[in-house]
Amino acid sequence: MSFRILGTGSALPARSVTNDELSGFLDTSDDWISTRTGIRSRRLCTTETLDELAALAAREALAAAGVAASELDLVVCSTTTADHIMPGEACAVAEALGASCPCLDVSAACAGFVFGLDVADGWFARGRARRVLVVSAEKMSRVLDWSDRASCVLFGDGAAAAVLGEGKGLLSLRLESRPDAETINIPGLAGTSPFDETERPASTFSMDGRRVFKFAVNAIVDGVRQTCADAHVEPQDIDHFVFHQANERILGAAVQRLGIEDARVARTLAETGNLSSACIPLALDRLVRAGSIEDGQLVALVGYGGGLSVGSCLLRWGSGT
Ligand code: ACO
Repeated sequence: MSFRILGTGSALPARSVTNDELSGFLDTSDDWISTRTGIRSRRLCTTETLDELAALAAREALAAAGVAASELDLVVCSTTTADHIMPGEACAVAEALGASCPCLDVSAACAGFVFGLDVADGWFARGRARRVLVVSAEKMSRVLDWSDRASCVLFGDGAAAAVLGEGKGLLSLRLESRPDAETINIPGLAGTSPFDETERPASTFSMDGRRVFKFAVNAIVDGVRQTCADAHVEPQDIDHFVFHQANERILGAAVQRLGIEDARVARTLAETGNLSSACIPLALDRLVRAGSIEDGQLVALVGYGGGLSVGSCLLRWGSGT
C-alpha cells in the first residue's frame, strides 16, 4: 500500500519583480533574460518569512485534502534555504499548523519534492503513516549573489505542498545522485570560530550554467523514459508532465527529444522563475486548481538539480486503483 495525493496548496510572496527592475541595478535586460530563460518576473520575499510561506501552502493543501493537522503522521519538508539551520523547516511548519508528529527535512535541491515523496512512500509501505504532508519551501533570494547577473535573474521564492493518504496512485519512482559539489553549489555558513583555518567562500549560489543545461535535459528525458518503462506505459500515454522549472529552453529541448505534446508540459516559469524544489508542487497545484487533471490520468514528475540529484515518478491521479 502506498499513497495518493489528496490535496495540494501553494503560497508565493506578494512582491513581483520584473526583469526591467533587475536591469535597474544589473547589466542585463528583459530581452536577454526572457529570450535565454523564458522568465519575465519572479516573486521575492520582502516581509514574508519562509516559515510563513510554507505554513500557508501547507494549510491550503490540508484544506483541499479535508485533512486536519492533528491527523498528520509525518511532515516532510524539502528545502535548501530554510529559515533555521535548526530546528528543521518541517518542525517550524508543524508548529505553525499545530501538528504533533515526526518532522524531517530533505535536502535534495530542486529534486527535493520527489525525494520527499519517496520518504513518504516508505512510511506508507511500512504501515507507519496514513496521512503525510510533503511541503517544499525555498527562499532562493537569500542565497543569491545579487551582483552575479548570470544566476540571480533565474530564481524566485515560494512554497507548495501536497497532502498524501493511503492509495495506489504511485506507479513508479526513481531517485538518482551523481555526487558533484562543483556544478551547482551553495557553500555552508563560514561561522566565526577563531580556530577554523579552512577557506571560507561566501555562502552564495554558483553554477556552471552550460553543464547544468546538458545535465537537465538528459535528466528529464531519462527520468520520463525510465519511470514509464518501470510502469509499462509509453511517454505518449502521459497526460501531464510536471518538470522542474529551470529554463524554458531546457523544457523545449526535453519536449523535442521525448517527442511529446508540448501542451502537456506544465509551465510556471514565466511569472515565478526557478523556485528550486517548490517548482514541481507549485505547478501541480496550479493544474489541480485549474481543474486540468482528471481522475485516472497519468502525471509524470521529474526534478533535477544540486547534488547532482534526480527524482522522477509516475502517478495515476485520483483513487489510483
Ligand atoms: N544578462 C545579460 N547578459 C548575461 C546575463 C544576463 N542576466 N547572464 C550572462 N550574461 C552574459 C555573459 O556574461 C556572457 O557574456 P560574454 O559572452 O561577454 O562573456 C554571455 O551572456 C553568455 O553567457 P553564458 O553563461 O554563456 O550564457 P548561456 O547562453 O549559457 O546562458 C544560462 C546562461 C541561461 C544560465 C544557461 O546556461 C542555462 O540556461 N543554463 C541552465 C542552468 C539553469 O537554468 N540553472 C538554474 C539553476 S540550477 C537548477 O535549477 C537545476
